[in-house]
Amino acid sequence: MEEHKIGPVSINLTNGGEQILVPQALLPHLTRAAIFLVLTINPGQEHRAAVRSFCNELAGLLRAVGFRDLQGRLSCVMAFGSDAWDRLFGSPRPKELHPFQELRGQHHAVSTPGDILFHIRSARMDMCFELATQILSKLGNAVSAVDEVHGFTYFDDRDLIGFVDGTENPVAQAAIDAAIIGEEDAAFAGGSYVIVQKYLHDLDRWNALPIEAQERIIGRRKLSDIELDDAVKPSSAHNALTTIIEDGKQLEIVRDNMSFGDVGRGEFGTYFIGYARSPRRIEQMLVNMFVGRPPGNYDRLLDYSRAVTGTLFFVPTATFLDNVAASDTVSPPVNPPAEESGSEAASKPQLTDGSLGIGSLKGDPQHE
Ligand code: HEM
Repeated sequence: MEEHKIGPVSINLTNGGEQILVPQALLPHLTRAAIFLVLTINPGQEHRAAVRSFCNELAGLLRAVGFRDLQGRLSCVMAFGSDAWDRLFGSPRPKELHPFQELRGQHHAVSTPGDILFHIRSARMDMCFELATQILSKLGNAVSAVDEVHGFTYFDDRDLIGFVDGTENPVAQAAIDAAIIGEEDAAFAGGSYVIVQKYLHDLDRWNALPIEAQERIIGRRKLSDIELDDAVKPSSAHNALTTIIEDGKQLEIVRDNMSFGDVGRGEFGTYFIGYARSPRRIEQMLVNMFVGRPPGNYDRLLDYSRAVTGTLFFVPTATFLDNVAASDTVSPPVNPPAEESGSEAASKPQLTDGSLGIGSLKGDPQHE
């Protein structure tokens, strides 16, 4: 896959003005290593203030560590869980931000705690490690780490079940269209939603399956990575259940799964990470996988892979992070979390006052 940077997003305001916002670097760019760090914020106003003041320090840390080897292409995305958003930034809140909803179907998609996600990527694990260390040292006792996964890309960009992972990821403008919020939530344009799930594979049982059976589960040939013909691909194949068409258009997401494991403990996993302009499309994929489409026609990959975490976060723009002030004064949220059902096109918010309405920015009298 080519490297893609997202340029600044220009938002037209209803008063005829324009606002330039810079999204965080969330598109995949051929990195071999990643650290997924999920934190909770410790109770107390001083800890919330510490997290707020950290927000505009992240860019500097990233520059400092990243400059040590530009070929390392270090990047970091910082994202916030639903409750954390309210505690840190209050109102307004991203329209579709809510806690990850567990699913109980043929298999169980658990919902696990998480206030902040750092998704750190680089060609070099030592750069990821250094940045994670610097981040945690700045945040100090304001946070507790609830999950930390050091991921790597396995041979030929395969996951540990042996299939090439990421082939059908959208690229270039299609990736931006899939992942970056636009006018549908103008106050948070340039942002994104991200869902993470840590899966553990039962590799002994998986590897005991004939290759053809594995290929029918994934929907692609194992060696060549060629997609199975529709005539032979089961409707329960992983790539069939995760294909969602709405109003004749495919609703895509941007993934950057990584392998991880602990050989001594017999732990072999895939860390799933999916970015989308609306969490609903990822949630629909999860319903198809865990409950089935139609119900019962579920993703057999789950017979061999168990989700042990599941958390949803909102990714604000880099511009937002740069402008967060340390002040801990937040106003209560005005928008309740969005309804779970309905088409994505259903909500088309309009700006009425010409402001971007992003709370907690420097100079925002509401929050100072
Ligand atoms: C155990 C965890 C998972 C593994 C090992 C896995 C592996 C794969 C593989 C091998 C492919 C085919 C190649 C490709 O196009 O990337 C694929 C496709 C895909 N997966 Fe997953 N996946 C996992 C979980 C998920 C989850 C949780 C979602 C969404 C909620 C998801 C969404 C997708 C999508 C959208 C595609 C592309 C479908 C297409 O357009 O052909 N995957 N995955």
